[in-house]
Amino acid sequence: MINKEVYDKVVAAFAAKFGAQPAAVAYAPGRIEVLGNHTDYNEGYVFSAAIDKGTFFAVSPAADDKVTLVALDMGGETYGTTLGAVAKVESGATWANYPLGTFNWLFDGNPAAAGKGFNAVFGGNIPLGAGLSSSAALEMATVLALAKIYGVEKDKTSLAKIGQKAEHTFAGCPCGLLDQASSLYGKAGALVKSDFRYCAFENVPMGDGVAFMMVKSNAHHALVDGAYASRRKACEDAAAHFAGVLRKKVTHLRDVTMAEWVLYRDGLDETTARRAVHPIGEDERVLQGAALLEKGDLKGFGALMYDSHESSRRWFENSCEELDAIVDAAKAIPEVYGARLSGGGFGGSCCLLVDPAAADAIAARISAAYKAKFGDEPVCSLIKPSDGASLV
Ligand code: GLA
Repeated sequence: MINKEVYDKVVAAFAAKFGAQPAAVAYAPGRIEVLGNHTDYNEGYVFSAAIDKGTFFAVSPAADDKVTLVALDMGGETYGTTLGAVAKVESGATWANYPLGTFNWLFDGNPAAAGKGFNAVFGGNIPLGAGLSSSAALEMATVLALAKIYGVEKDKTSLAKIGQKAEHTFAGCPCGLLDQASSLYGKAGALVKSDFRYCAFENVPMGDGVAFMMVKSNAHHALVDGAYASRRKACEDAAAHFAGVLRKKVTHLRDVTMAEWVLYRDGLDETTARRAVHPIGEDERVLQGAALLEKGDLKGFGALMYDSHESSRRWFENSCEELDAIVDAAKAIPEVYGARLSGGGFGGSCCLLVDPAAADAIAARISAAYKAKFGDEPVCSLIKPSDGASLV
């Protein structure tokens, strides 16, 4: 859902800075992760949704080889470089790594092939550090707008992978493809069901009787600090172990069942075994959840969300006190069907499946419980599953 006010602000800032209207504007939403945590890079399954908040990227080709980026959400800070000097920004304007990395990989690592530079202004309304994938939204808005002005044609999954490469090489986070794919494949009123082995993305309609509430803890969320990378490494080590002991082809934890984990976990050190069981269980929960959604069993689906959080808390250890407190408070409210942390973890937000008619009362109860424990209040917002990224 495009926010006209934010769009106008970005376009006006572009006109003020560059003295003309932009040649292209693209919009890309953030995402919520509903079920299936840390499964994407294990080639597993996820339910997610694009949200009704996003980022606009307004751009025109430059007359020369200069690249100029203006970040409205960073107080209008400007970063400039040239086609021949596009590289990871190590300090200062590190926000530029998302659009720059995306530009770099749109041209397969050879941005000079673009011929001309560009002028861009971007801004949006996704709260930063909330686990709503503001960075993927920026990458996807960038890639759509740049593909338009440079006349590059690629399918959505290739565009998503360009953003993922920018994360890996410019931003320093070895993420999966979930955030970028959710931003591109979202659909109003529907979830995105992803199968990351085959990069197959399907929209599953949600009934009108439910909504999502995001509850942003005040715990800091940063995936670049090594915790995410260490979880990913543990999953890869575990997959290598199972590949050695199971008499079948195993390339990722997607190939390992819970029963196999129980039988063969002994060859793994304790921590690696604990990490591995989380994505294995999550894959099973997403498949069960799909069957429950088909039957319209939202309570059953919500129960899986609670299990998902419990698995994060106990096994993957990517939760924290603040997120646990939100989920515990949610469990005591009958109008909340399920709750879990959403995204990388270690802070950020929880995603609650709620009865929208009771939204205000739910927000009040969760906030009060959180305040009693931590002294400050979380931010609760109702989220509408929305359409994915597009040119405006
Ligand atoms: C972050 C990453 C995603 C995914 C989630 C956890 O959002 O960017 O690729 O791994 O964490 O499911």
